[in-house]
Amino acid sequence: MRLAIVGCGYLGAVHAAAMASLGHEVVGIDVDRAKVESLSQGRAPFHEPGFPELLAQVQGDGRLRFTTELAAAREAELSFVCVGTPQAPDSQAADLSFVDAALGGLLDLLVDPADRTVVVGKSTVPVGTAAVWAERFAALPGAVDLVWNPEFLREGFAVQDTLSPDRIVYGLPPGESGRRAASALDEVYADLLAAGVPKIETDLATAELVKVAANAFLATKISFINAMAEVCEAAGGDIYELAQAIGLDPRIGRRFLRPGVGFGGGCLPKDIRAFAARARELGAGEAVEFLGAVDRTNLRARRRMADLVTRAVAGKAEAGLEGYRVAVLGAAFKPDSDDMRDSPALAVARELARRGAEVVVYDPAAGPMVRQLAPELQVAQSLSQAATGAGALVVLTEWDEFVQLDPDAVAGLVARRLVVDGRGALDPGRWTAAGWDFHRLGAPSPLAAKAVD
Ligand code: UDX
Repeated sequence: MRLAIVGCGYLGAVHAAAMASLGHEVVGIDVDRAKVESLSQGRAPFHEPGFPELLAQVQGDGRLRFTTELAAAREAELSFVCVGTPQAPDSQAADLSFVDAALGGLLDLLVDPADRTVVVGKSTVPVGTAAVWAERFAALPGAVDLVWNPEFLREGFAVQDTLSPDRIVYGLPPGESGRRAASALDEVYADLLAAGVPKIETDLATAELVKVAANAFLATKISFINAMAEVCEAAGGDIYELAQAIGLDPRIGRRFLRPGVGFGGGCLPKDIRAFAARARELGAGEAVEFLGAVDRTNLRARRRMADLVTRAVAGKAEAGLEGYRVAVLGAAFKPDSDDMRDSPALAVARELARRGAEVVVYDPAAGPMVRQLAPELQVAQSLSQAATGAGALVVLTEWDEFVQLDPDAVAGLVARRLVVDGRGALDPGRWTAAGWDFHRLGAPSPLAAKAVD
């Protein structure tokens, strides 16, 4: 099929390449000329495992091109809208200006009575957005159907999640329009459906809600375990043993129960805020009041982490960190990504610098981003450069390079064998056996025990 993808960020660029790999003829459209040039030359504008290879493969086959011209969507049988919905600068709600611009642009374009096409929203939007646009498209003289098909991809696994998703959700308008759109989407995803990916057909509002409800649940799981970590600290318990024990109950499950410095990125934080803001507008604010607590627990983990490092390094949480060199390992919000949006690692690194520490950051992919965003931090080119002379190693993103780190090998580089593991990524037995003073939030250590006083 001929597909247009409007918006070529993490979601759109990967979706474009993945759809081309399924045999469709795809044009990716973005207003950012530099991004379009980079993608046209086969260069990924962000770090995403497997994406450069997929891009090279489909561009070699001639099925994928990129342009800044929205008019290219006129030729498409389906246009996917994959633009961002960041948090609005002055409120907790989503900023819909990119969605409005993309859908408004398509609305202005598809005015010929001969136009027969489907507009597919993939962006995460406040519930109710799709219905408003569906009405506007339905009023066009041709047959232009609007559906919502939320995307659940995780950064770091974007290619895999697009080509082998857990489920595909169609939010459809009622009647003939919905039936036409569903059969067009079935054709787009024919290979995935044939491979057994479950499909759920529902109405527009439910499809919009599925996405934010899924992210709200995941965020709640993470904040739940971090809240338990706070209680463990107060009570002298061990959050890692607790997480293992409750996670073995299949009704609870082990995943998304990793304690530490909390969630960040371009989705979970802003999605829970926008969800709560929209629910309040709908008069259902009380139902999702807990999301405020989820958010606060998550942000508190960053301060608790900075306090733990301060106590471990300087003896007490209120101490200044002047004269201490701290190596921060990891800056991206998660491993296998260079995404710095709302990164807990960057927030903690900056807080340590604010408290006076000389902070040297090493991240396998996000170094250039750190330089841009936080000029007060030093950026090392390698783990050993960061560790050399450091009074503490602080792991804030669980890149494999850090998980595999040999404590004996790095011991010779540091000024003091002190490690703070903000992601539960390291084996405490191995590090303490190598003579390291080892600290984590929510687990006993002589200093962590004083955390809540
Ligand atoms: C998330 C959703 O998982 C995805 O379905 C949606 O489409 C977009 O938002 P992503 O932002 O890529 O994906 O990251 P995710 O893997 O969900 O992790 C989010 C954050 O939570 C990261 O900062 C991660 O480090 C943190 N996290 C995750 C924890 O702190 N503990 C955990 O147990 C799991």
